[in-house]
Amino acid sequence: MFLRNRLKGEPPVPAMPATSNAAAAPHPGMRQESSPENRAATPSKMPVRQASRPPMDSQTELKSKVHRLLVENMRSQNLDETSSPDTIKEAIRHGLEQVLADENRLLSRVERDRLVEDLYDDMLGLGPIEPLLADDSVSEVMVNGPHSVYIERNGRIEKTDVTFSDGAHLIRVIDRIVSRVGRRIDESSPMCDARLQNGSRVNAIIPPLAIDGAALTIRKFRKDPLKVDSLVEYGSLTDPMASFLKGCVEARLNVLISGGTGSGKTTLLNVLSSFIPSNERLITIEDAAELQLQQDHVIRLETRPANVEGAGRVDQAELVRNSLRMRPDRIILGEIRGGEALAMLQAMNTGHEGSLATIHANTTRDALARLETMVLMAGMDLPLRAIREQMASAINLILQIERSTDGGRRVTSITEVVGMEGDILQLQDIYTYVREGVDENGRLVGAHRPTGIRPKCADQLRLKGIPLPVDLFQIGGWA
Ligand SMILES: Nc1ncnc2c1ncn2[C@@H]1O[C@H](COP(=O)(O)OP(=O)(O)OP(=O)(O)O)[C@@H](O)[C@H]1O
Ligand SMILES: [Mg+2]
Repeated sequence: MFLRNRLKGEPPVPAMPATSNAAAAPHPGMRQESSPENRAATPSKMPVRQASRPPMDSQTELKSKVHRLLVENMRSQNLDETSSPDTIKEAIRHGLEQVLADENRLLSRVERDRLVEDLYDDMLGLGPIEPLLADDSVSEVMVNGPHSVYIERNGRIEKTDVTFSDGAHLIRVIDRIVSRVGRRIDESSPMCDARLQNGSRVNAIIPPLAIDGAALTIRKFRKDPLKVDSLVEYGSLTDPMASFLKGCVEARLNVLISGGTGSGKTTLLNVLSSFIPSNERLITIEDAAELQLQQDHVIRLETRPANVEGAGRVDQAELVRNSLRMRPDRIILGEIRGGEALAMLQAMNTGHEGSLATIHANTTRDALARLETMVLMAGMDLPLRAIREQMASAINLILQIERSTDGGRRVTSITEVVGMEGDILQLQDIYTYVREGVDENGRLVGAHRPTGIRPKCADQLRLKGIPLPVDLFQIGGWA
């Protein structure tokens, strides 16, 4: 493949044949969006083209013939991925006419136009990042302008030598990605956050906001989401910690997961949600739906950005308020970011115990400070003490998770909110990660340890019939 050759230091092969091959054997991830079925699901421009679609078999056959012909002729016609869309479409149209003439077939103009568009999308794919997206060992692709592409593999960030030919090429690819999911990006709305049909999360931002060229960040969807056993195996937490968390979720404690960007918050939220009994009614609320809950009785809600006229935006706060009328047992909020903070605290305090959420913060204290700020900024004229009291009674546990320099993700503390003393929220750590150094391979050396404090919530768990081993919290105990 194009990228593999380049990574190996072999001379780059022309881009077009490589992406064309990819089109012939679409990978199960992003490319599937241009398949006829998925395209039909894409809003806006699709219905007209779908209406006059010829039967699937003859269409596929026709496409592959045109495709073969084009690949053969590409070089002689001096075409490659950097050629303008009109030139490529013209070549596709020419190839199509030739195949139709050879086969003595007739197609209406509308059908021909549609086939040209389909072939164009199939062949151009996602350009040079296509192989990265097809590679299962790559978990994130970060394009920082046309000449700088990074990936995350096994938790580590590496620079690749993949490049786009210029800024316009990169913007064409971004445009293709976002328009497939019914979003748009241009100078008047230069940022876009979207979830692809395969579940991957995409953010794109283009000039003038991105100074050195458009930036594209794709968090690839994991086909097999990490389970608690893998997290224990990777050293993100220990068995006793996992048992404790399982008990807390079963006992309907409200849990907040705090961490920096890419630290594994959503993954941990997904793992915690797996401990929820399957007879409960769950509502998930996210900006770009990523959670993959195992239970059946789940309703997934996702925010919506404003349309071209600037209308129709639905934010998380509205979704949280609406979800309260949907009789949920628990609400799972992907990330608390703003106005929904107060509604979420109220939900946690009023019959939706066992709710879970993440928040972007570097320490557990910081998480509470951010939450407080968000409630204040939502414009409710509440005294600080009242907000803190709400937080103290709503949130039972805060988990802090970190991405370390070695690429590993670790829960660095499990902290209980025990109440208020004066105006100050009181926290106590139940488990922490104690760092001891770094080994010769650059891996962090350390261990998760109980602090020896028996959490207040242990009684609550016992009363709910969830007994925990007595030595679970003892220093040198089960841990
Ligand atoms: N415990 C873990 N061990 C190894 N890899 C992990 C772990 N948790 C998450 N990852 C990987 O790290 C990446 C980021 O994970 P995740 O999306 O959960 O982070 P996040 O904190 O929610 O990020 P963001 O701040 O962007 O929302 C993913 O590729 C995920 O597969
Ligand atoms: Mg996340």
